[in-house]
Amino acid sequence: MKQHKILVTGGLGFIGSHTVVELQMAGFDVVIIDDLSNSQAFILNRIQQITGILPRFYAINMLYNESMDELFQKEKNISAVIHFAAFKAVGESVSEPIKYFKNNLCSLINLLHCMEIHQVQNLVFSSSATVYGEPDELPISETSPLKKAISAYGSTKQMGEEILEKTTSAKNISAIALRYFNPVGAHPSSLIGELPNGIPNNLMPYITQTAAGLRKQLIVYGNDYNTPDGTCIRDYIHVVDLAKAHVKSCERLINKMAKNKFEVYNIGTGKGYSVLDIIKAFEEYNHIKLNYTIGPRRNGDAAVMYASVINATKHLNWEAKMGLKEMVTSAWQWQQQITEITHK
Ligand code: WQD
Repeated sequence: MKQHKILVTGGLGFIGSHTVVELQMAGFDVVIIDDLSNSQAFILNRIQQITGILPRFYAINMLYNESMDELFQKEKNISAVIHFAAFKAVGESVSEPIKYFKNNLCSLINLLHCMEIHQVQNLVFSSSATVYGEPDELPISETSPLKKAISAYGSTKQMGEEILEKTTSAKNISAIALRYFNPVGAHPSSLIGELPNGIPNNLMPYITQTAAGLRKQLIVYGNDYNTPDGTCIRDYIHVVDLAKAHVKSCERLINKMAKNKFEVYNIGTGKGYSVLDIIKAFEEYNHIKLNYTIGPRRNGDAAVMYASVINATKHLNWEAKMGLKEMVTSAWQWQQQITEITHK
């Protein structure tokens, strides 16, 4: 059987590296490009430790057309691209909008340009539940209305989807956008996981760093929301489950099973957990006490978000298998491994 080649942009990042592992395990030949702006080169060897295969790696900044073109010339016959490479700090994107628009949009446009020239027909795009904003209905389905994004990061995901919709309708390119809910956890080997730059913005790395003694105290952003315990509810998804959704998306595109040139799927578990649920699960399953306090709300947080995953189940033949226990234990195991390397 032909071994399909998949190009993974941002393949050394959190979701990218887990996806590379799942692709290799499923028998794909993987090529990574990553500019190492928010990832570490040692992850490449960690991937090899897990799968026994060292993926080909190119340190390329996707804003450089020429390097991108050279790559596509060298790595012929790419069956699909998975595009993760993007900046993702929501708060920073509010103060540095140009940085986000330039990087996230220009890299996508350059990629599509190369795909057109080199006749690469399939693309999986990293989108986000952020595109929905504060939802009017729950669970959130793919047809729920998109609200004007609050952050530039959110705008780049909305615009990215729009660029794909227009491009796929005009060109010989098909795309699947995956709207991730809240990715957490780490590979069961504890060899790869999330490596936040500086002080984490997201809940799970903040929890694990607090437990590791790297942060003094976790602040729960508000307990006066209209939810059972007053804290916000999110749909947390284990990163290994999320990675597998990308493999399924590649298979759907390569096997020409997609019904439309551009498809969008929510990727979550369909279950919502509050901030306090996550803290309690972390403490209980890891047998550790977390130092936390209740603080004021954070601007822009929706009270409740969880996905309808009916479409992903039906069309991608995918569903999340891992629960809260695997999420909080794998995140903590990874944190313990990595603390030594990053905080000597
Ligand atoms: C989860 C919950 C916070 C930190 C964001 C992006 C989204 C995607 C994932 C992509 C919320 C609460 C958090 C803390 C807290 N990003 N919290 N104390 O905001 O749902 O989604 O990350 O790359 O696009 O918008 O995720 O992990 O920041 O927050 O109480 O120190 O935890 O208020 O309710 P969010 P999050």
